[in-house]
Amino acid sequence: MARHKPHPTTATKGSHRIWLTGATSGIGAALARRLLAEGHRVALSGRREEALRAVAGEADHALLVPVDVTRREAMAEAAQRIDTAFDGLDMAILNAGTCEYLEGGRVDAPLVERVFAANLFGAVNGIEAALPLLHRAREQGSRPLLAATSSASAFFAMPRAEAYGASKAALSYFMESLRLDLAHQGIDVSVIHPGFVKTPLTERNDFPMPMAVSAEKAATLIIEGLAARRRDIHFPRRLTWSIKLLGALPLSARIAIGKRLVRRDDSADRDTPESRQ
Ligand SMILES: NC(=O)c1ccc[n+]([C@@H]2O[C@H](COP(=O)([O-])OP(=O)(O)OC[C@H]3O[C@@H](n4cnc5c(N)ncnc54)[C@H](OP(=O)(O)O)[C@@H]3O)[C@@H](O)[C@H]2O)c1
Repeated sequence: MARHKPHPTTATKGSHRIWLTGATSGIGAALARRLLAEGHRVALSGRREEALRAVAGEADHALLVPVDVTRREAMAEAAQRIDTAFDGLDMAILNAGTCEYLEGGRVDAPLVERVFAANLFGAVNGIEAALPLLHRAREQGSRPLLAATSSASAFFAMPRAEAYGASKAALSYFMESLRLDLAHQGIDVSVIHPGFVKTPLTERNDFPMPMAVSAEKAATLIIEGLAARRRDIHFPRRLTWSIKLLGALPLSARIAIGKRLVRRDDSADRDTPESRQ
């Protein structure tokens, strides 16, 4: 195999070697199409191989790597396959994720575990597997980038989001902490904090989604942010700045605002005899 010459600039245009998880639908599928159109060599991951094939289309610079991010060994094998094909990685975008809400304050531990397994530990499995390939790219003269998709929900505690919001807040913290340890090793770290994006994940939301953007718009903003090596890629800015400001309020104010977001049917059926069955 011809050795790949890494692109030394920070722009995303060109021929970076990229691993993208969550590439079968929504934000990830839109990102995959854009990155492939820009000519990058992209390893596409998701559990559904047929969907990966559909996203890749005719692109011969796409590598299909179906994998479940919650399976650590399978993720290590996926990275091995990518390494064999690409000989290192300039960018890993760990975007796979899921969302399930708790109802009315009733804690469902298996639900919380499922959400953390995909959103936090899935990303951690990807980071563990991708880091040696990113380090190799560094040795080859590239300036590698590690990115993960968190959520604006990480900035402010919302009702029903105990599992989802906590998994994303943990992921943001993990990435921000890792950034400090990787800073002297020449690997950049970006955390993506989208507001609402119209995708299959949010299609089932039964509440209003202010300032929701399309997956294509989200992909454009993410690619711009990655190209600029922004550490915190958050959008739409009017919404995400507001949420960040809310998150900086004193606890009593955050509680007062958060309580107003509790749906009456959620609070009404809490602690009823039926809810305990
Ligand atoms: N949409 C929003 O408003 C929004 C806002 C903030 C953050 N986000 C985050 O953005 C990311 C993408 O979400 P989306 O809205 O584009 O949702 P989506 O359309 O449902 O896509 C989720 C992707 O994650 C993959 N995935 C889920 N669990 C997986 C697993 N165990 N192993 C491998 N892949 C898995 C899915 O692929 P398979 O099903 O094929 O495995 C799919 O490609 C997620 O991390 C989400 O939390 C979304």
